[in-house]
Amino acid sequence: MTKILVTGGAGYIGSHACKVLAREGYTPIVFDNISTGWEEAVKFGPLEKGDLLDRARLDEVFAKHKPDAIMHFAALSQVGESMQVPGWYWRSNVLGAVNLCEAAVEAGCAKFIFSSTCATYGDQDGVVLDENSLQMPINAYGASKRAIEDILANFGETFELKHVIFRYFNVAGGDEAAEIGEFHRPETHLIPIVLDAVDGKRDKLTIYGTDYDTPDGTCIRDYVHVMDLVEAHVLGLKWLEAGKDSRAFNLGTGSGFSVREVMNAAGQVTNRPVPYEEGDRRPGDATRLVSGSSRAIDELGWKPRRSTMPQMIEDAWRWHQTGHYEK
Ligand SMILES: NC(=O)c1ccc[n+]([C@@H]2O[C@H](COP(=O)([O-])OP(=O)(O)OC[C@H]3O[C@@H](n4cnc5c(N)ncnc54)[C@H](O)[C@@H]3O)[C@@H](O)[C@H]2O)c1
Repeated sequence: MTKILVTGGAGYIGSHACKVLAREGYTPIVFDNISTGWEEAVKFGPLEKGDLLDRARLDEVFAKHKPDAIMHFAALSQVGESMQVPGWYWRSNVLGAVNLCEAAVEAGCAKFIFSSTCATYGDQDGVVLDENSLQMPINAYGASKRAIEDILANFGETFELKHVIFRYFNVAGGDEAAEIGEFHRPETHLIPIVLDAVDGKRDKLTIYGTDYDTPDGTCIRDYVHVMDLVEAHVLGLKWLEAGKDSRAFNLGTGSGFSVREVMNAAGQVTNRPVPYEEGDRRPGDATRLVSGSSRAIDELGWKPRRSTMPQMIEDAWRWHQTGHYEK
């Protein structure tokens, strides 16, 4: 069976990718340092523990498994943290990606699928962001991801290494069977935080900024269901398997939801009140990030099926109620 090296496969999105890869007949080989992920989430193929900064360990794993392609999810990915300790982000994300590209080239692995982010676009208020929008990140996290996109372009010019870049908007929801799901510690993503507040795992949710230039004053984001997102990755893999050129695709739905709208939707799905307080803006937060996603639909044939707000919250809530990895 075709082997895919899944960096970050013990994390939220990577573990869902492994489930879908296994379902599609691939063998996912997880490479992860378990810094923000969970060994319990590695259920669909072997786990190779290691850090992207350890080049010798990467070489060992490439030599052992000879993967046909890479899905690169591993990263530090908290916007706020990236503004406090930017060096971590440049070292781990960017040097880690250089190591991975070099190890791939040396091992003759020529297909690379990369998790980028809408944070590479920065704060372009009022604009629907498509793949041709300027990339002007306003935080170190987004800057580190943009740098990796440049690295992939350079490697592609010099070596046999084709890539598909996916710029995710906000990823939400979970596996329908609640076998895996989203669990970050600390949690920084809105929907799981709202669910923690709903069931008393935290006192309340803080809304960071209520004076943005949006209809209700809170930030607006575009949410995409994790299963739809990872299904796009399989289409990206097939794109490269068909010998097509390197390409970047946004993954979002084109609909924006404010923080208050997400809270209201969560209240309706769970049928419980959402305790909250209003706080100040955080540095590095853009006002509105909404995707133009027609390229993935038109060129990859992507069909998002579960990316409605009630569905994403319902799936996240089902997982949340399992007690997940806290058990
Ligand atoms: N969750 C979102 O909404 C979102 C949005 C845009 C982009 N992304 C990107 O998607 C990817 C996955 O995000 P996630 O939410 O699943 O994050 P996550 O923290 O759940 O998973 C990341 C995984 O990578 C591992 N890892 C981190 N640094 C590593 C290193 N140096 N070496 C080896 N393993 C390492 C962690 O242990 C973890 O298992 C990230 O690249 C992130 O930037 C996520």
